[in-house]
Amino acid sequence: MSKRTIVALPGDGIGKAVLDETIRVLDAAGFEAEYVEGDIGWEFWKSEGNPLPDRTIELIKKHKVGLFGAITSKPKDAAFAELSPELQSKGLIYSSPIVGLRQHFGLDICMRPCHTYVGNPLNFIRRAQGDNFDEPEVDVVIFRQNTEGLYGGVEWSNPPTQVYDALMTHPRFVKNFGDTPKEEISVSTRIFTKKATERILRAAFEHAKKYGYKSVTVCEKPNVIRETSGMMFKMAQEIQKSDYPEIELWNTNIDAQMMWLTKNPENYGVIVAGNMFGDIVSDGFAGLIGGLGFACSAQFNPDTGIGVFEPTHGSAPKYADYDVSIVNPIAMIESACMMLDFINENDIAARIRKAVAEVIIEGKVKTYDMMKMTGRADVIEKGAASTQEMADAVIAKL
Ligand code: NAI
Ligand code: MG
Repeated sequence: MSKRTIVALPGDGIGKAVLDETIRVLDAAGFEAEYVEGDIGWEFWKSEGNPLPDRTIELIKKHKVGLFGAITSKPKDAAFAELSPELQSKGLIYSSPIVGLRQHFGLDICMRPCHTYVGNPLNFIRRAQGDNFDEPEVDVVIFRQNTEGLYGGVEWSNPPTQVYDALMTHPRFVKNFGDTPKEEISVSTRIFTKKATERILRAAFEHAKKYGYKSVTVCEKPNVIRETSGMMFKMAQEIQKSDYPEIELWNTNIDAQMMWLTKNPENYGVIVAGNMFGDIVSDGFAGLIGGLGFACSAQFNPDTGIGVFEPTHGSAPKYADYDVSIVNPIAMIESACMMLDFINENDIAARIRKAVAEVIIEGKVKTYDMMKMTGRADVIEKGAASTQEMADAVIAKL
């Protein structure tokens, strides 16, 4: 069989270190692949005015599967200031290449599993009766709609007249904002389509069915955001009733869900939400299982077979230039396992996950975050494992 080609997208900052170590783990686990490197990130914004060059889009289109480290994003003005001087007169506006990738390839299904690793010193614990404590076992998979909603990019400051006039046809707009000058108004839209909403809901129910979760929770705010959250919940009710009667449908509001996060996280199974609330709730659950060093994600389009797999953390620029990288590669390694599942290399994925679990249970090799240290270059002298040493430990278990 010919080797699979994977597009390696290191990006910025710590993205390269965690991706390099993950590829070593994949090799050691016997995953036969070639890696072609795709340009993405801040460097390409500064030098070319485009953090997601067309050649990178072409590579992903051709090979379909990408492993992505992390990118650096900065606000509009800061981005402009760093743009190479000869590009500054061209009216270029920075936008996040990862959001661009999601939209370009319609990677509308984002999956973020958060499960407790036995023995992880960062596991959430909860006060119980007397002096006792519980360590609830979290096993949640968040399905986040990845292309629409508040991150859909349809927004204006001082909106064009047609938009303003359309808004003025809404009685609530007239009542609450009708007296405000147009120049003083900023609008970010929250657009949900039935098609994308149905796709994320079905993906969530299908996952619950396949892996035996007893419930699917819609985590939105339908009592207040009636049109978009309301549509999602109503569609979930219809889908559950017609196709998944054996799975319970629960409904939580995003604010209450965050408040109750630590109360009964073990009760939740599959959670589904729009783009922004999915982002929020997945970070919340990730905090219970060890935080950014452990939080992995997949984003894909089931129709095209195109998928990009990435840790949810960013480029952590303050650690990027250390001589020895100190960050935890587990989030990236687990993201690679999601990639392996996506391309039906489930056995290799299972072996790597088992090796990671063994390293954590054994507790001998821990990166600085697992030792609850402040991230500094001297953590290695103080006994923390480097990024490379953590990968070595996983490889040794393989
Ligand atoms: P970040 O995730 O890069 O880092 C926040 C903090 O989390 C770090 O300072 C570090 O203490 C910890 N951390 C992150 N990854 C870790 C790991 N693997 N092991 C141990 N500790 C880890 O978020 P921040 O500082 O808000 O953003 C930095 C840059 O990353 C920004 O430019 C931001 O726009 C970008 N970003 C990119 C993302 C992506 O590529 N998908 C996602 C989030 C942020
Ligand atoms: Mg996030």
